Amino acid sequence: MRLVSIDMLKPDMKIARAVYNQGALVLPAGRTDVARYISNLRNMGIEYVYVEDNKSEGIEIPDAIAEKTRTSCKQILQNTIEQFSISDKLETKALEDCVTSVITEILNTPDIQVSLNDIASADEYTYTHSVSTMVYALMIARKLNYSEPKLAVLGMGTLLHDIGKMLIDREVMFKEGELTQKEYEYVKMHSLYGYQTLRRIASLPEQVRLIAYMHHERIDGSGYPQGLSGDELNQLIRIVSIADVYDALTTDRCYRKKWPANKAMDFLVERSGKEFDPVLVGLFTQQLAVYPNGSLVRLSNQYMGIVSKQNKSMPLRPFVRVIQDAKGNDIVPYEIDLMKELCVTITESELEISRNKPAISPDEL
Ligand SMILES: [Fe+2]
Ligand SMILES: [Fe+2]
Repeated sequence: MRLVSIDMLKPDMKIARAVYNQGALVLPAGRTDVARYISNLRNMGIEYVYVEDNKSEGIEIPDAIAEKTRTSCKQILQNTIEQFSISDKLETKALEDCVTSVITEILNTPDIQVSLNDIASADEYTYTHSVSTMVYALMIARKLNYSEPKLAVLGMGTLLHDIGKMLIDREVMFKEGELTQKEYEYVKMHSLYGYQTLRRIASLPEQVRLIAYMHHERIDGSGYPQGLSGDELNQLIRIVSIADVYDALTTDRCYRKKWPANKAMDFLVERSGKEFDPVLVGLFTQQLAVYPNGSLVRLSNQYMGIVSKQNKSMPLRPFVRVIQDAKGNDIVPYEIDLMKELCVTITESELEISRNKPAISPDEL
């Protein structure tokens, strides 16, 4: 299996993971002849899909939780929030069950380097983002040996961290292109709106509400809404801020394309010790694949290949299945282990190849 830009879809590829839009199945797994869906996918804001083809046969892309769990959590979150906006009652039971099932899976998943890359249409972004951010946050927390009740608070807080966006005008929320300063200030209100919304639900722990309120704070005081710093931000908030930014950067948005995993990790590492807690950034990045399985890479000898397996001790040197020579000709694929071929390195990752440099993002909302 591999992840390809929809511009690179070829007739011999078949969909490896189903594509959904607003809970509805758009492209089932196994569908061939996918090129004719390109414009549909693009209209939904989907730029990448997982495919199976001869070149990527046998390559597995590990996820921290099962696809079924992820899809059902997203659906439960969406239904719960839509129901809440009509009835003003938040059915927390279904959300609690979904948090519990994710915690159980994460605690039982072997410690491997994962790449999530869930595919989200623009309309579903907030739900997909909330579930992925929860998974990332719980991955960090499992390294801290949190008790299950503490993981449950973190999970629920992360799942609801952007609930305030529901009160932001759709036109501004999904605006293509850069926000004006005024619009940006308005969107920032989502953390306060989130807190106020969650205060209406008496059964929620205060810490869940505080995650919604403070997830954009940074330990050097550069965040919002209050510009809190240092010890004013507890560990749960610090975890969510890292998970939130990483997921936002690695997902397509209406105003920019997603960043490759290695760039998003560099972003966190560069800011660790300033905006982000360095210990937590370390615990997080050690669990992520720098060059995820299934991604296309260019090697220093100009050959192209697909990452096929990770080398845990050397994340920058995975196994690569070489598929193209330096002149761009397809070749009979063969596998190399970059931990053994020390004179070859990865020079570019997929997204850089398909569209050159990623755009610089505004601070993630
Ligand atoms: Fe946010
Ligand atoms: Fe967020």
